Amino acid sequence: MCFRSRAGGSKHRAETGCNVYGKRVRNDDKKVIRGSMPEINIPKYYDRLASDYDTRFSNPQLDYMRTVENSVLQENLADFRGLILDVGCGTGEQTLALAKDGFSVIGLDISAEMIRVAKKKSEEAGLSIPFIIASADALPFKGNCISMLTSMFGAYSHIPAFDCAFSEMHRVLADGGKALFTIVNRWNLNWWLMHTFIGNRDWVRHALKNKDFVSDGLWTYYFSRRELVKKMRSAGFQRARVGSIMIFLYPHLRRIEKKVSLYQRTSGRIENLVRWDFPFNSIGYYLLAVCTK
Ligand SMILES: C[S@@+](CC[C@H](N)C(=O)[O-])C[C@H]1O[C@@H](n2cnc3c(N)ncnc32)[C@H](O)[C@@H]1O
Repeated sequence: MCFRSRAGGSKHRAETGCNVYGKRVRNDDKKVIRGSMPEINIPKYYDRLASDYDTRFSNPQLDYMRTVENSVLQENLADFRGLILDVGCGTGEQTLALAKDGFSVIGLDISAEMIRVAKKKSEEAGLSIPFIIASADALPFKGNCISMLTSMFGAYSHIPAFDCAFSEMHRVLADGGKALFTIVNRWNLNWWLMHTFIGNRDWVRHALKNKDFVSDGLWTYYFSRRELVKKMRSAGFQRARVGSIMIFLYPHLRRIEKKVSLYQRTSGRIENLVRWDFPFNSIGYYLLAVCTK
């Protein structure tokens, strides 16, 4: 059996001090915090998004990102056998797609509401996928029992105890197993150009001084490519291949649009050719990591 007992999970938290949800953080940016310390509540933030998550985050830029995530995942699934763990599975879009393709997959998320929606979708599709409410920094599994860990659309950007989460990622994977995930990038060129020249200088100042940001209860940490590679190596991974996504495009997180412009099509094609090469591998909105234990 792959699952670790509940006691195991809490022991891990107690020993490592990893359970930081609901904590208050220091943040120096007056614009962001207006004199008080913002409260972090990541499960609550995602609970609120769950009901319309699938329609809210749909536009050509994000669809493009999904296409890239999926194609890299498919490349890594050629001749694959074993158990896949989808961490931060949200409403289970990828989890369901993997199960429909015949893979054994478990969905895991910290938000009970996200898991509720994922379970409902899975039942409606006639699939029987195990979904678990747990945190990536205390995975309720024994060591070496997962063959591939996936985590799409930046779940690992919202884990204050990210060092624990990366060690957990490594611990549960079997030797030779792969972790494939996306995470937001600190040196996303589009963002820096836009905010330096169009004018949100306070944000630029904040981002130069800090790597994290709290908004509406959601804590986000911005890794550089270099820092991420270093973290994966210190977590024990033998190989960390990191490229980037959305180098020329920008993911409009609030705008719903359906039409794909010529610019989007062309830049997507160029990006596909250069995402793993320097300097393009370091300047996209998201970093895309494929790490081998
Ligand atoms: C941006 S969503 C991505 C969801 C999904 N993977 C997708 O591609 O649409 C990030 C997800 O990570 C989950 N999450 C955040 N912190 C987590 C943690 N510590 N452990 C597990 N899941 C977490 C959130 O609840 C949310 O569902």
